[in-house]
Amino acid sequence: MMNKTQIIAHRGYRVVAPENTLPAFEAALAYQPDMLEMDVHRTKDGHLVVIHDEKVDRTTNGTGFVKDMTLAEIKSLDAGSYKEPKMIGVTIPTFDEFLAFLRTQNFEQTLMLEIKTDHVAYPGIEKEILDKVDAYQPKYHVLYQSFNLNSLKIVRKLQPDADIAALVYWATPIVYWLKWRGVFDYIHSDIRVLKNKPNIFWRPNVHMRTWTVDNEADMRRIFKAGLRGIITNQVALATKIRQEI
Ligand code: G3P
Ligand code: CA
Repeated sequence: MMNKTQIIAHRGYRVVAPENTLPAFEAALAYQPDMLEMDVHRTKDGHLVVIHDEKVDRTTNGTGFVKDMTLAEIKSLDAGSYKEPKMIGVTIPTFDEFLAFLRTQNFEQTLMLEIKTDHVAYPGIEKEILDKVDAYQPKYHVLYQSFNLNSLKIVRKLQPDADIAALVYWATPIVYWLKWRGVFDYIHSDIRVLKNKPNIFWRPNVHMRTWTVDNEADMRRIFKAGLRGIITNQVALATKIRQEI
């Protein structure tokens, strides 16, 4: 029987295409991962956009905070050539463009949507995201995650039956207590948590997913242990290893 640990494509398939862009998501979908992971920020003029960092500097030819730029400014940036010259012209997708893209792909897996409120405050972004998802009436499931506990609480309040995960660097007892209280449904931990606390966290029923698992030995160990999921940049490798287990 095939191993059930989910494979989650981190920011698309960012090894082969610029992260969090439509080419990266398209490349990931070729491997039919169980989930696509991506990150949402908001522009100065209130548009939701798909990008990981608070600033555009690392992944575009521009500079500055997303929150300080208009959508027109964001869209004028090249988000492809930092990765490869032939990718010139790729832009930061709006959340609308991303959702429309999933529709064209007949996406039926799960969208792992990270609300990027850990370093920048975007008041009201949680409702805007939920409303936008609702407007598309997706056939697929959406799993919301954030490092910001307050964002998770807001999502829970707005949509009590939403699937919610807390991103954590340290899985302390309070994390388990919050999960037990129903503030969130899953714990998504840095892989270092697993490595440091093997006896507690390697249980399949802990509902733990972990990031970022790019190394073959870690993948084999996690697949054998039957953890719920790995969030990986190495989508092809993970797919191959899982088939072998
Ligand atoms: O999905 C887990 C992971 O994406 C969280 O970290 O920084 O890559 O968004 P980051
Ligand atoms: Ca993320």
